[in-house]
Amino acid sequence: MRIAIVTGASSGLGREFVKQIIQKKRLDAVWVIARRESRLLEMAQGSPVPILPIPLDLTKQESFSALRALLEEEKPDIRILVNAAGFGKIGSYAEISISDSESMINLNCRALVQMTLLVLPYMTRGAQILEVCSVASFQPLPALNVYAASKAFVQSYSRSLRWELFGRGIHVTAVCPYWIKDTEFISIAEKTDHPKGVRHFPLASCAHGVVRAALRDGKLNLPVSTPGPVAFLQRFFTKFIPHELVIACWEGLRHL
Ligand SMILES: NC(=O)c1ccc[n+]([C@@H]2O[C@H](COP(=O)([O-])OP(=O)(O)OC[C@H]3O[C@@H](n4cnc5c(N)ncnc54)[C@H](OP(=O)(O)O)[C@@H]3O)[C@@H](O)[C@H]2O)c1
Repeated sequence: MRIAIVTGASSGLGREFVKQIIQKKRLDAVWVIARRESRLLEMAQGSPVPILPIPLDLTKQESFSALRALLEEEKPDIRILVNAAGFGKIGSYAEISISDSESMINLNCRALVQMTLLVLPYMTRGAQILEVCSVASFQPLPALNVYAASKAFVQSYSRSLRWELFGRGIHVTAVCPYWIKDTEFISIAEKTDHPKGVRHFPLASCAHGVVRAALRDGKLNLPVSTPGPVAFLQRFFTKFIPHELVIACWEGLRHL
């Protein structure tokens, strides 16, 4: 059974990945993971390809035991894994709770690594892993401190894993979008003691275009996908401009 697994599938990028994977890839099923079961069941209704809703909280260790058992039972041929579950919080170290900081690290880093390691035994040549990262991974960002650090981890992890998997012919791409306006990310990020820590999100992109570019770049086995011109330019300039200067510009821009 040839399948795709998408985490964070109940909204935003994850949901868009499911739509486009169904249109573009010939698969027997798509397994979708998130906490909101009703959203996953809704997706399954009327889908041209069978969708298996797997309601799990990926910050809980028992979720991975359940997933491991399911994989051992079904022994699927996993053609594509998209790790899109993730969240950020806007605010300084004093404005974000310890529990939110811990959950960000748990979901954005630990769960992503665990998902990846869990599916790798079920992948063969030509399979793809898309680790959803962010332009926040290119430099440290005050007011998105833990989030940016968690995405720097994801970028570093994905790029080394890609080399480790060359021999097995498995593609790994870190997908690094700039702000996206049509997902729940920004509204969740603003639910802190300092919701206006970033005042505007100019030139924000759309989930559809980000996912289309990410799937293309994953197929090409690019190490990093920067969907859209803003993401590309940020990646380019942060290679040459000292990060302290980039941080100073960010500090100005986010207060405008
Ligand atoms: N939107 C942006 O501006 C932007 C920019 C760059 C990168 N990104 C990255 O893109 C990824 C997707 O974000 P998005 O924009 O699509 O945001 P979103 O609409 O909020 O989607 C996040 C997804 O993660 C799932 N999720 C959250 N906590 C979870 C948990 N504990 N266990 C399992 N699933 C969980 C959510 O589903 P449930 O709530 O149902 O669990 C939801 O499906 C994230 O990694 C984010 O960092 C977003």
